[in-house]
Amino acid sequence: MEQTEVMKPETLDDLIKVLHKIFESDNINVEEVQNIMEAYDSNPQEWMKFAKFDQFRYTRNLVDEGNGKFNLMILCWGEGHGSSIHDHTDSHCFMKLLQGQLKETLFEWPDKKTCNMVQKSQRILQTNQCAYINDSFGLHRVENASHTECSASLHLYSPPFNTCQTFDQRTGHKNTVKMTFWSKFGERTPFAARCVTERLYSTRKPQSHKKITKKLKTFAFGMTML
Ligand SMILES: [Fe+2]
Repeated sequence: MEQTEVMKPETLDDLIKVLHKIFESDNINVEEVQNIMEAYDSNPQEWMKFAKFDQFRYTRNLVDEGNGKFNLMILCWGEGHGSSIHDHTDSHCFMKLLQGQLKETLFEWPDKKTCNMVQKSQRILQTNQCAYINDSFGLHRVENASHTECSASLHLYSPPFNTCQTFDQRTGHKNTVKMTFWSKFGERTPFAARCVTERLYSTRKPQSHKKITKKLKTFAFGMTML
């Protein structure tokens, strides 16, 4: 497939514009997208407004809906946070490191008879590197293995999807899970508030309803990280 000259996007906005242009076509050149995403030098000042971390698990923060052709999002990984082993619902998945490092572990699809999960490879992705995966490569797990540094990664999924399958490494059993956004376009989503509510009510040391209401009001105005 013919590849256009790799331009260096100077800013995140530039990168988004180039991606819109590339995805006007239905024939995607994976290498071209990977090169363009890798060519953008991560500048935290440009993406910080989207990067909303949670104390307990990694978050998915929507940046751009790519005219329906792709979803671009920033995943924020606190220390030790990781994903389940998952597939990519027949979509392309590009993952560019914006900050820190991420460990990617690749698995074979579980054997239909034995359900065994076989690890294929493992690598550490560095800042600005862009990885690619689709279901023909197998499954993967992504983790921030650091216990002192946060990580952030820019993900492009095309076509967009909102469910995927997760796999139990021990048994190979799978589950279909719905994926939601912690924030969209820099604003926390109602889902995020719901998670916080569930967390506050399910804490081992129950807090009073009055205290929870107060915390939620503060949360709604974005004045605190819970
Ligand atoms: Fe993934």
